[in-house]
Amino acid sequence: MCALFKPYFDELSIPLPEKPETFGSQFEEQVQAVLDVAPPVFSFIFGIPSPEILDRCKSKGIKTIGTATTVDEALALEAAGVDAIVATGFEAGGHRASFMQSPEVSLTGTFVLIPQVADKVKIPVIAAGGIADGRGVAAALTLGADAVQIGTAFLVCDESNATREHREILFSKNANYTVLTKIFTGRLSRGIKSKLLDEFVLQEDKFAPYPIQRIFFNALRDAAIAQGKSDLMTFPSGQIAPILKYKRAAELFQSLLSQMKSIRGES
Ligand SMILES: Cc1cc2nc3c(=O)[nH]c(=O)nc-3n(C[C@H](O)[C@H](O)[C@H](O)COP(=O)(O)O)c2cc1C
Repeated sequence: MCALFKPYFDELSIPLPEKPETFGSQFEEQVQAVLDVAPPVFSFIFGIPSPEILDRCKSKGIKTIGTATTVDEALALEAAGVDAIVATGFEAGGHRASFMQSPEVSLTGTFVLIPQVADKVKIPVIAAGGIADGRGVAAALTLGADAVQIGTAFLVCDESNATREHREILFSKNANYTVLTKIFTGRLSRGIKSKLLDEFVLQEDKFAPYPIQRIFFNALRDAAIAQGKSDLMTFPSGQIAPILKYKRAAELFQSLLSQMKSIRGES
C-alpha cells in the first residue's frame, strides 16, 4: 500500500500515514450512541444488526431501516424484523451495501430491483439509486416503492458538506462517466472517472480491505483539497448527476414534488 500511494503523497509533499495501533471497529460505539440519543429512525447498511440491537431499538421506539442490493438481502432484512428496506440499485452514489454475496455479483439496477423487492416483501420499500427528478420518483412509486431516497441530487446543493470542487464537477461533463471502485475505502463505491482512478483501476487487487484503505485515501484527499490539486481529488457521485439542475435543497424538493404530482395526476 505504501509503495502504491507513495508517488501521490510525494507529489503533495506529505508523509505516508503511520500504522494505527488498532484497526478496531467503532460499530459498537456507534450503536450505543444511537441507543442513547434514540432518534426516530436508525438506518444502516452492510448487513443486519444483531437481534439484541434490533430489540433494543424496538423497545426505545426507534424505527429501523436496512439496505438491500438484492431480493435475498431484502427478504433477510424483513425476516430479521426491520421496519423498512432501502432497495438500492448500482446507479447510486456511495457504497454498494451488499452483505450476502459480493457487491460485484449483486449489481442490480434500481428499476429491476424495485418491482422484485416490492413483490416479495410486506414492509415498506424505499427506492434508491438514479432518482433525481419527479420522473424518477413517479417511476419508482409506479414500480411498487413506497418512498424514495436521494443522495447525489442533494450532494450538489449549497446545503451539503461537499467541497466547491466537488459540486462544480458534478455539474460538469466529467459527471457523464462514473466508475465503481474500491479506492475510496476498500469497499466498492461509485465516483466520477478521473486520472487518479484510471491510474489506480488496474491495481485494485492490491488495495487494503475496509477500513485500512481509507486511512491512505483520506490523507491523500484531504491534502489534495487543501492544496487545490483537483487531479488528485476524487469525487463520489451516482450515475444520475448529468440531469441535475438545482443548487438549493428547497428548490430541488419543490421541483421533485410538483413534477411527480403532475405525472401522477395528483393535485
Ligand atoms: C457521497 C455519498 C455518501 C453516502 N453515504 C451514505 C451513508 O453513509 N449511509 C447510507 O446509508 N447511504 C449513503 N449514501 C447513499 C445515499 O443514502 C442514497 O441511497 C444514494 O445516494 C441514492 O442514489 P443516488 O446517489 O443516485 O441518489 C451516500 C451517497 C453519496 C452520494
